[in-house]
Amino acid sequence: MGDKPETLITDGVRLDGRKPKDMRALKIVAGFLENADGSCYLECGSTKVVAAVYGPRQVHPRHATLFDRALVRCKYDMAAFSTDGNRKRPGPDRRSREISKVSSEALSSVVFTEAYPRTAIDVFIEIIQADASTRVNGLTAASVALADAGIPMRDMLVALSFGKIYGTQDGKPAEVVAVDMDKPEDNWGLADVALAYMPNLERFVLCQMDGRLTHDEFRDGLEMIKKPAQELYKLQKEALRKKYKG
Ligand code: CDP
Repeated sequence: MGDKPETLITDGVRLDGRKPKDMRALKIVAGFLENADGSCYLECGSTKVVAAVYGPRQVHPRHATLFDRALVRCKYDMAAFSTDGNRKRPGPDRRSREISKVSSEALSSVVFTEAYPRTAIDVFIEIIQADASTRVNGLTAASVALADAGIPMRDMLVALSFGKIYGTQDGKPAEVVAVDMDKPEDNWGLADVALAYMPNLERFVLCQMDGRLTHDEFRDGLEMIKKPAQELYKLQKEALRKKYKG
């Protein structure tokens, strides 16, 4: 990553040309892998994710079995080739363990786990190219992969980020709330929030934040993600329809 830029947004235009409300270009493909029970490939700008689901299947190790519901386990991993620098070593680290844990919890709350007691539903999220917002894009992809595997869910899971970036407006310093943080914005921005929610039930299942936001800024961010979240949900449904209807 280069030096801190002087501005991340100038007169409402971000470094990559987006307006505050704009997501990066999105692409979702359901059933991307042949060997998994369900899978998804997702692109959000240059963040690229593959999600794969196996199960419901027998739990290993056996002592992890839950007798009244399925165990939803999510493993998030950033491929060693996913970043430009030398920061990422292969294998799990503290950050990926944390993301795996919160993702497992978020996914557990959308799956009807009680329908499959004593089984495991394993979800793998592999970040093949990282340009920030990987945990949220991983969850959006994972929810398509779960649906592709035919696992009954309360709702889909739509996940996206917003944050606060600094810049100028009419030559004066400004702080602006914007959706879908990319790498420079995540790195240098003033705050970033990762959210996952069920679009029909309107229930949040993940909220993580770095930095500081006022209540009003947080509310603005929640308002701002509504439209792109609907767009993501629409793309998820289209991807699944395409796989099953051709
Ligand atoms: O990816 P996400 O925004 O969910 O998580 P983060 O911890 O805020 O990481 C932001 C970004 O930093 C990642 O998406 C990667 O682009 C980058 N990163 C990296 O290059 N190497 C790491 N070991 C960790 C993060």
